[in-house]
Amino acid sequence: MGIVGAGPAGLTLGNLLQQAGIPCVVLERGSREYIETRPRAGVMEHRAVQMLSRHGLADRLLQEADRHGACEFRVDGQAYEVDYSSLYDGQTHYVYPQQEVVKDLVAAFVNGGGDVRFDVQDVALHDIESPAPSLTWTTADGTREKLDCAFIAGADGFHGVTRRSIPPGAIQEFSHQHGIEWLSILAEAPPSTHKVIYALHPDGFAGHMLRSATVSRYYLQVPVDDTVDNWSDERVWAELHKRLALRDSDWSLTEGRIIEKRILDMRSHVVEPMNHGSLYLLGDAAHIITPVGAKGMNLALHDAEVLATALTGYHRTGDDTGLRSYSEVCLRRVWRAQEFSQWMVFMIHRSPEPFLSRLGQARLEHLIGSGASAGYFAQNYVGP
Ligand code: PHB
Repeated sequence: MGIVGAGPAGLTLGNLLQQAGIPCVVLERGSREYIETRPRAGVMEHRAVQMLSRHGLADRLLQEADRHGACEFRVDGQAYEVDYSSLYDGQTHYVYPQQEVVKDLVAAFVNGGGDVRFDVQDVALHDIESPAPSLTWTTADGTREKLDCAFIAGADGFHGVTRRSIPPGAIQEFSHQHGIEWLSILAEAPPSTHKVIYALHPDGFAGHMLRSATVSRYYLQVPVDDTVDNWSDERVWAELHKRLALRDSDWSLTEGRIIEKRILDMRSHVVEPMNHGSLYLLGDAAHIITPVGAKGMNLALHDAEVLATALTGYHRTGDDTGLRSYSEVCLRRVWRAQEFSQWMVFMIHRSPEPFLSRLGQARLEHLIGSGASAGYFAQNYVGP
């Protein structure tokens, strides 16, 4: 098995295959240090943690992650809490930064004798429509190497080479630009909240998300085509203070050193089917989702579990049922998540079109005021 990409999807797959005794090689463009320190997502669903735990991959996570079962919506300076855990079987989110997940998965794979090649360049896929595909790449010292395999897993992200190796016409791509942009900020600041905050303000959405006791993530809705250069640290904090403010409360936002500022394009993209010939796509290589609802890493882990189960079944008995249904099983979860993320995007942003803006407001009021709507939210947010 050749796995392209050492992110959460590729590494989870690698670990599960290794545990099943299926030989695999993981190729990664970045260095080990780069992938182990690159901050990205930070929210894991209950079932993703359970899956890792079943495979002995969640020991440190279970010790160190904070569990969260409630979030807060702030509207016109008023706070409304939604206790989603109590509405959905007591299931919680686990807050554990993606780079820590990656660190744990690399360590487990390498300690189990796994083969990861870091710093590889110019990865190319060959004969993916045959049962004997291969991968070639250039190592850091300039040598060209080759791996013959039975299957290739493409877990190399949205801009990776694997999806682009599929001939045009063999897959259908569904894309949607949500017409919104977020400025994503990471700061060395202790959290000013115990729960994720979604704030709706006339000037745009603001979010306060959690990472650790010393680092926090914030988001600001910014005009489409805005650039990071327009956002000095002073402007970021002023805007966060304004949009997150609570009326009649002594709540305040603790500032810290900003360590990352990025513009996030709010785009969704889904590839159907998620496989072609001997190539199986996972995670962002097959689907990207807006960050709203924090589903991206969870979908990637689900893909890895489904593919590992299918490959293990095939390896043991020659039964390829799991491989044939891989795409369909994953896509069901992917589209469920896309629908929910879109539902939330619409609810927490105010559309420039006044009618749509009022619909978004009605959706949030229904969520805050109705048990049935809160139940829908809880099920999709932490589950389903
Ligand atoms: C995050 O932690 O980055 C996060 C959490 C919840 C969201 C979106 C992003 O809805």
